[in-house]
Amino acid sequence: MFVWTKRCAPADADAWEQRLSDAPEVEVVVTSAPGRPKVTVEAFCERQTAARAIQRAYGGSVRTLKKQNWAAMAPPQPDPIRVRDRLVIIGQRGAKAMARTRRLFPGREILCVPPEMAFGTGHHATTAAVLRFIADAAAEWKRAGREWSMADLGCGSGILAMAGLQLGAADVWACDFDPDAVRVTLENLRLNRIDGIIAEVVDVTTWKPARRYDCVAANIFFDILVDIFPKLARSVKREGIVLISGILASQADECLAAGRRAGLEFDRVMKKGRWVSARGRLV
Ligand SMILES: C[S@@+](CC[C@H](N)C(=O)[O-])C[C@H]1O[C@@H](n2cnc3c(N)ncnc32)[C@H](O)[C@@H]1O
Repeated sequence: MFVWTKRCAPADADAWEQRLSDAPEVEVVVTSAPGRPKVTVEAFCERQTAARAIQRAYGGSVRTLKKQNWAAMAPPQPDPIRVRDRLVIIGQRGAKAMARTRRLFPGREILCVPPEMAFGTGHHATTAAVLRFIADAAAEWKRAGREWSMADLGCGSGILAMAGLQLGAADVWACDFDPDAVRVTLENLRLNRIDGIIAEVVDVTTWKPARRYDCVAANIFFDILVDIFPKLARSVKREGIVLISGILASQADECLAAGRRAGLEFDRVMKKGRWVSARGRLV
């Protein structure tokens, strides 16, 4: 077991937890001590490569923990994630797991997203909310016989992009500024035998949208959303939707106000735990 450690301001603790906690092989612990101005964020990783990857991205230090029976302490494998009645997402690889899931959930699309060092297995409230928004839009567009396209900004594991394609998008473009995330996305595309998604290393803060999409999903941090709202408005079609997530409840008012200033209105706002997600359209 390897432990990555960094000290941060208490106000940033939630953001660190969000950044690190969705990968099931990484357990995040935030510790504060009375009278101390900083809190300690620790990410417990089974693999040294995972701890080093966090250190490369965010600084901090890595230490090795003494050998223990970590397997016995590991949380049980979570259940498949059901998205409406359309899609099921599992973490286990292999034909047997796929066949078992097909038997359990006949008629649904099935995606395999193994736990990796990229955010997005579907368990996090922010991902789950966007998946449901996508499923609802896909069902509506299918009923209307409308062809649709999608952009996934900050794709992490590629889960939203893959869900979009499985649920009917004609073409999907995905990007992340982290090359490891794009590598994991490409691996997940191969694993699920999915064609029709382009995944690229792009920083959305410098991205220049070259076209408009029917669905633009951005499960990304609050400060980046506030920065890129004008681009989101420029990259969505007049009758399309912008799906935003990764916003703490305490930041929601400020975030949605910034979106409105960029010309968006939000017709659905979903709160799950301390996370807020929203669906926007051009005014
Ligand atoms: C909260 S995760 C979301 C992952 C996945 N889309 C999901 O919904 O589960 C945010 C992702 O955005 C990426 N990201 C953060 N800042 C970015 C930026 N400026 N440009 C592109 N990607 C960024 C991170 O690397 C991370 O993979």
